[in-house]
Amino acid sequence: MRTLTIPRPDDWHVHLRDGAMLASVAPFSAGFGRILAMPNLVPPVDTAAAARAYRARIAATGAPFAPLLATYLTDRTDPDDLEAGFRAGDLVAVKWYPAGATTHSDRGVTDVRHVAAVLERMAAIGLPLLVHGEVTDRRVDIFDRERVFLETILGPLLDRLPALRCVVEHATTRDAVAFVRSRPNTAATITPHHLWWNRNALFEGGLRPHAYCLPVLKREEDRQALRAAATGGDPRFFAGTDSAPHPVHKKEADCGCAGVFCAPTAIAAYAQVFDEEQALDRLGGFLSQHGAAFYRLPVSAETVQIEERAWTPPECIAIEGGTVRVFLGGETLRWAVSG
Ligand code: NCD
Ligand code: ZN
Repeated sequence: MRTLTIPRPDDWHVHLRDGAMLASVAPFSAGFGRILAMPNLVPPVDTAAAARAYRARIAATGAPFAPLLATYLTDRTDPDDLEAGFRAGDLVAVKWYPAGATTHSDRGVTDVRHVAAVLERMAAIGLPLLVHGEVTDRRVDIFDRERVFLETILGPLLDRLPALRCVVEHATTRDAVAFVRSRPNTAATITPHHLWWNRNALFEGGLRPHAYCLPVLKREEDRQALRAAATGGDPRFFAGTDSAPHPVHKKEADCGCAGVFCAPTAIAAYAQVFDEEQALDRLGGFLSQHGAAFYRLPVSAETVQIEERAWTPPECIAIEGGTVRVFLGGETLRWAVSG
């Protein structure tokens, strides 16, 4: 049996939600030492004080990871509040959701010009900007929205503010990989599901709402570019699961929610991808080192063991009033976290 010992992984992009859902899903991120919780609650976590309060609610679940917070950028974000929160450790990053791009993004940025002063301050103090990089223009094909965002919005912004530290969250395209490689101070998170599936998964024998997430799955050539980026050892690419739980009844609906709940299987899925790419020696970099370096935090002093062992994750987990489907639930995985 092959085993691997790596520093405890971190998840640099996860939706833990709030209330009863938070209590139900937080334990499934227990394989990670630190998690960066996304702020798209209702109402959004859009001030340092809100971040502090949300962090306390996450910690109160007793889940065995250290929660880190990103606040939600709005047209009215106060740069002084961000700077004070960053210096106090209440937030480690700021998340830019273009208004209307995804779940609970309606309070997001309507025009990059509205946040110019905030972004300048962030560049000056080294506070990272995390980007949901999709344009919302309905005339742009949904499969092109990431590329067009990078070309028309983020690229020009970083030309003006090259010192801005930026993460292209849940990168899904070959274009995003090339964008990150071509720019200083820029990184990307990559999800397990975008490494696993291409867009055919959405239509495999019928319509598959549980493969629907945003940014939507892309072509096989994009998946291959993501796999090369994740497994290639480049420190600009690191793990962010984008685990995004929604109740089954809200996904299997006339207008189903976007999001894949991958927290329970993410580490195993990443390990299997790295094994398939003959890059297991680089798994620790991607899961445990590159993100910490980007966020200027120490690599975990704890280790975890990952072993080659077949197991079948449950299809669903129970939540209050329903269930949530698990990414790869019911399938046989080849790697597992020991213990
Ligand atoms: C996320 C969610 O449900 O909060 N959904 C998703 O498909 N990834 C939002 C997001 O990260 O876009
Ligand atoms: Zn997300």
